[in-house]
Amino acid sequence: PRKIILDCDPGHDDAVAMILAYGNPDIDLVAVTTVSGNQSLTKVTRNALSVGTICGIKGIPFAAGADRPIVRPLEYAPDIHGDSGMDGPEQPEKSTIELDPRHAAQLIIDVVMAHEPGEITLVPTGALTNIALAARMEPKIVERVREVVLMGGGYHVGNWSPVAEFNIKIDPEAAHIVFNEKWPVVMVGLDLTHQALCTPDAVEKIEKVGTGPAKFVRELMDFFAETYKDAQGFDYPPVHDPCAVAYIIDPTIVKTQKVPVDIELTGTLTLGMTVADFRAPAPEDCHTWVATELDHGRFWDLIVDALERIGEG
Ligand code: BDR
Ligand code: CA
Repeated sequence: PRKIILDCDPGHDDAVAMILAYGNPDIDLVAVTTVSGNQSLTKVTRNALSVGTICGIKGIPFAAGADRPIVRPLEYAPDIHGDSGMDGPEQPEKSTIELDPRHAAQLIIDVVMAHEPGEITLVPTGALTNIALAARMEPKIVERVREVVLMGGGYHVGNWSPVAEFNIKIDPEAAHIVFNEKWPVVMVGLDLTHQALCTPDAVEKIEKVGTGPAKFVRELMDFFAETYKDAQGFDYPPVHDPCAVAYIIDPTIVKTQKVPVDIELTGTLTLGMTVADFRAPAPEDCHTWVATELDHGRFWDLIVDALERIGEG
């Protein structure tokens, strides 16, 4: 199995990403770290521990990281994720997981350096603050990480501005650092994740699993569907973050193309845009890929399969 660190800001879709990573046999989830984004660091960290508790995740570290972007003022997404950052289902009163005392960036460094080169894949599904800090604190991680498979950006659409996506837009300097280090970066952006809609047939399959964790996901999706309809006019909510995990499990489910990508830091209209250069051929030193096409049916089958394997957690 592929060893991954999930760096997240749960977040309805981050929760599903954690469930997929934990429940899928081809992924070995070795650590979970949190970063402020969808809500405050305190809230998203609590949410991460709740998801871990509901699924019965044991024996891996959970650590909190950056409580704000590197340069820009704090921004949250309550219109999409609610006041708690994961509104909808009830959360367990007490978590069964104790938070690791290390800063997320330190934990990422420790885990990467303790493994062989090429063993650890980083999967950021929030702002890239922790990953950028880790790369600056210990530059040696860059050549040791197998790849960075992130949810963020988009080459045709934005959601936090006409051309910028939330995870990139709220900390564009961090994104600039991550995209410009020479590790392989796979950008699973909105072009791809807007194909990952939680359609009625997906809801039905989740419902059929009939366990506590499945009910939890069902309730997350109900809330997510409402806010995505009201705030962004979607018929069904796009479940972004697990797409990054699905790519690692099976790249035939999430197709990619190798193209240079860089982050706009100075545009007055385009701050945080992930500028992708589709002019062929990609230059020799290109180390970035963008996700293009999702197999919707097999993607949701993976989520359902993970829930079945997790059982009652
Ligand atoms: C991204 O922003 C967050 O609200 C979601 O969790 C996802 O990571 C989508 O733009
Ligand atoms: Ca997220």
